[in-house]
Amino acid sequence: MEKVFLVASGKGGTGKTMFAVNFGALLARCGKRVALIDMDLGMRNMDLYLGMENRVVFNIMDVMSGICRLNKAMQKVKGFDSLYFMAASPRKDDRKLTPQHMESLCEILQKYFDFVILDCGAGIGDALEASMGAAQCAIIVTEPETASLRDADTLISYLSDHGLRNSYLVVNKIDLDLMKAGILPDAGSIINGTGTPVVGMIQMDKDIRISTGKGIPVVCQTGSYIEENFRQIAGRILTDQPMTAMYGEDQ
Ligand SMILES: Nc1ncnc2c1ncn2[C@@H]1O[C@H](COP(=O)(O)OP(=O)(O)OP(=O)(O)O)[C@@H](O)[C@H]1O
Ligand SMILES: [Mg+2]
Repeated sequence: MEKVFLVASGKGGTGKTMFAVNFGALLARCGKRVALIDMDLGMRNMDLYLGMENRVVFNIMDVMSGICRLNKAMQKVKGFDSLYFMAASPRKDDRKLTPQHMESLCEILQKYFDFVILDCGAGIGDALEASMGAAQCAIIVTEPETASLRDADTLISYLSDHGLRNSYLVVNKIDLDLMKAGILPDAGSIINGTGTPVVGMIQMDKDIRISTGKGIPVVCQTGSYIEENFRQIAGRILTDQPMTAMYGEDQ
């Protein structure tokens, strides 16, 4: 089973960090040991979405440049027993992460954690290049607009050309009214129109915005439909059982 996941997107702001945080939080609530790594170097947000911004002392660049040990930078997320996270550097600096850095980091992390989730920035850049060799599976988060779907496909082809052939698509910020009005492609045509297995559809919901603003993962609202949706998405990823077009037609 895949243990190291890369979360990426073609376009920016599609919901990668929101997804990474909630996927990790859901797995941790199921008793798994999870390491969330913010790879959005210089543009970090994961600390905010986890409500940990006042507790960050060291970051991944400090570990890689030998300023601190890994266990000093890996912090237990408040409210969880088995969810840990490591911040990205707060601003761009001259220190560069290489694929070799990330491969050795993930090799160590896999000894202590059931799952490692690398949250990258949008598009193709140095951090993605460094992370993709260490990851066994990519989760590409897209919005349902044609432009976003096209950029997701472009990124998936890039990853595949560079050796990461195992990708899943999560379609976030679904607006059912716009889908019904034919302004956005509907779920069935998204699933049929991409060559990549779709493992989840997440509605545009203000509770998600509120949760990232408050720094509490939305899956902590137990019994909510969003928690159930994340549970299903995690199940599809871990059992490699993507959605079928029938799902889309039913919605
Ligand atoms: N399904 C959703 N419904 C409502 N708001 C959402 C949803 N998904 C994400 N958001 C909001 O969209 C904004 C961007 O989300 P997020 O930071 O996760 O995107 P990102 O892809 O990580 O961005 P970047 O490319 O800058 O890293 C946040 O305010 C978040 O709360
Ligand atoms: Mg992000």
